[in-house]
Amino acid sequence: MSLLDRKRRQNLSDGLPAKKSEGGYEYMSGFGNEFASECLPGALPEGQNNPQRCPYGLYAEQLSGTAFTAPRETNQRTWLYRIRPSVKHYPYQEEEAGHFTSDFKDVPVTPKQLRWKPFDLPAADRVDFVKGIHTLGGAGDPCTRYGAAIHIYTCNSSMANKAFYNADGDLLIVPQLGTLFITTEMGKMEVSPNEICVIQQGIRFKVDVTGASRGYMLEVWGNHFILPNLGPIGANGLANPRDFLTPVSHYEDVETEHVVVAKFQGKLFSAKQDHSPFDVVAWHGNYAPYKYNLKNFMVINATAFDHADPSIFTVLTCPGQLEGTALCDFVIFPPRWAVQDHTFRPPYYHRNCMSEFMGLIYGNYEAKEGEFQPGGGSLHSIMTPHGPDANCFTGASNAALNPVRVADNTQSFMFESSLSLKSTTWALKTCEKVDDDYWKCWQNLPKLFNPNQK
Ligand code: FE2
Repeated sequence: MSLLDRKRRQNLSDGLPAKKSEGGYEYMSGFGNEFASECLPGALPEGQNNPQRCPYGLYAEQLSGTAFTAPRETNQRTWLYRIRPSVKHYPYQEEEAGHFTSDFKDVPVTPKQLRWKPFDLPAADRVDFVKGIHTLGGAGDPCTRYGAAIHIYTCNSSMANKAFYNADGDLLIVPQLGTLFITTEMGKMEVSPNEICVIQQGIRFKVDVTGASRGYMLEVWGNHFILPNLGPIGANGLANPRDFLTPVSHYEDVETEHVVVAKFQGKLFSAKQDHSPFDVVAWHGNYAPYKYNLKNFMVINATAFDHADPSIFTVLTCPGQLEGTALCDFVIFPPRWAVQDHTFRPPYYHRNCMSEFMGLIYGNYEAKEGEFQPGGGSLHSIMTPHGPDANCFTGASNAALNPVRVADNTQSFMFESSLSLKSTTWALKTCEKVDDDYWKCWQNLPKLFNPNQK
């Protein structure tokens, strides 16, 4: 067997060995690599993308994730070699979108601190991932290609012969309950709580589950997620590129009726076709889904005194229009040591020019133990004050400042956005999960001021 054959057979990418997950799926390691993967030896054309006849009678199809003319360092596209081109489908029909929306023009506005109790799992049987998406809020417009939305998904049924793609933008999925078995055009991923995945604009996928499942989803319109710059941190740290995993190619040659659902300009459309859309036998390129295990995050923190800003916990960022100002960041609050001397260690009191949505994957959040629960959420809008509750303030102001583990057995996260996010009517009323007593957690903060005692 030649070296090239061995490389193909083993799905090697850029010389990096394929990596096997606990679930048995294979992945290629790295962030934004030029990956190459094939299920059959020689399925990837040699030396060109678009031969007169592709190997094995496949069709070549390019999926563009950036404008053709985007700068080389940000240009993203993938070449797919598939049994049939994606265009072979019946006409699109508009579908009922339920509470999955991208329209924030006529929704209630409130600056108040919002906290949601855990969102209900589906009451009905056979709620699949797409049916179970409920939009909490967002801002902007997918038609003008700038904005974001935050969703909750709850489901209990696999998508079977249904696939979905989002023509409006990328999806960052954060499972909180239940493992997601995701089939994409590029291959399969298993994504469990404490892992995340990103499925980019246009990529078809379906989600299988084994029981009741719940999680959070961040949708961005107009740009893709990248790793944050590290500045003085140096070449290593935070989320390291090698810990991102992209699936190896996988295909099925199935000739039964399938339906592909698209979200386009905020509305859902379905199109039937007489074969599986997951028929990509080989692909190469740098526009492909990936997953990441949050346990691999290399934490940087203050080791002498005071706080670093939570930006040191940024896993992924989707750049906005202003230099250094994200459209959206995905930030985690990972298990770590707190060692600062003469410092109030919990998060500081804060008013921000960014919107902060928080979710909890498991455990307790350090600044509000007990009230902020896994599967729930909170939103602190632009310039709305927030910070530790009264119990946390009193405890941390008097605690012995020994080195302590913080956030052990817990994982919370933040979707932070430079947009002024609006909450949907579902989020504020219909879901009936808003904690009307949230404001009270700060009312017992004592007045400690004494002009005669420093
Ligand atoms: Fe904050």
